[in-house]
Amino acid sequence: MPDTIELIGISGSLRAASATTAVLTSLFDRLPPDVRLTMVPIGHLPVYNDDDERPETREAVKALQQTIDRADGVIAISPEYNHGMSGVLKNAVDWVSRPGYASVLRNKPVLVMSTSNSPLGGARAQAQLRETFASTLSRVVARRQVCIGHAPKKITDGKLNDEPTYAFILDAIGDLIDEIMMWRHHKELEPRGSLLRPVPPGTAKD
Ligand SMILES: Cc1cc2nc3c(=O)[nH]c(=O)nc-3n(C[C@H](O)[C@H](O)[C@H](O)COP(=O)(O)O)c2cc1C
Repeated sequence: MPDTIELIGISGSLRAASATTAVLTSLFDRLPPDVRLTMVPIGHLPVYNDDDERPETREAVKALQQTIDRADGVIAISPEYNHGMSGVLKNAVDWVSRPGYASVLRNKPVLVMSTSNSPLGGARAQAQLRETFASTLSRVVARRQVCIGHAPKKITDGKLNDEPTYAFILDAIGDLIDEIMMWRHHKELEPRGSLLRPVPPGTAKD
């Protein structure tokens, strides 16, 4: 079993001065050495269209799928736009969610977080994030919601300036890591659930 934990961060805001992105990048020097967080860009993906066969589109989607596949876990954070998650993040999830119910997101531990400049911290966006990742059969971490209210005020020079918010987020990442470890152990155990599942045609032993 590998010792290190590889996390990827996906931000739903493309703004250069995004508070949402800054929340994640502020964590780089707060994580233990055996936990690595890498930001993954999504702004270059075209609007979802399954007819889009351009090689550059297929390559961009494949690269993102491979990055997610290799990662132990995903942290997805979105600002709230009109009571929902950002379109750019939904677009990226739609791209990588294919083939349905069998994509790289299936069984992937995912921690969802949200931001806004209101005191609610994007709670409505986060409900959509949770539902969207659940539909991909991701293992969305079950915990108290990480809603970061007044987010722009909590950023100074591109860094989170609020220690209670750091503590709450690091606690949530601890839960994500617990989920990753549980899933790693689960894969080593006898899959008892398969006793109840139908045997796919052609795979019966006798
Ligand atoms: C189009 C648009 C819609 C927004 N709708 C909401 C909203 O419904 N609820 C809310 O709390 N904030 C809303 N906001 C405020 C954003 O959540 C806030 O600006 C947030 O900090 C943006 O994140 P960023 O700094 O990472 O870009 C909206 C902002 C924009 C641009």
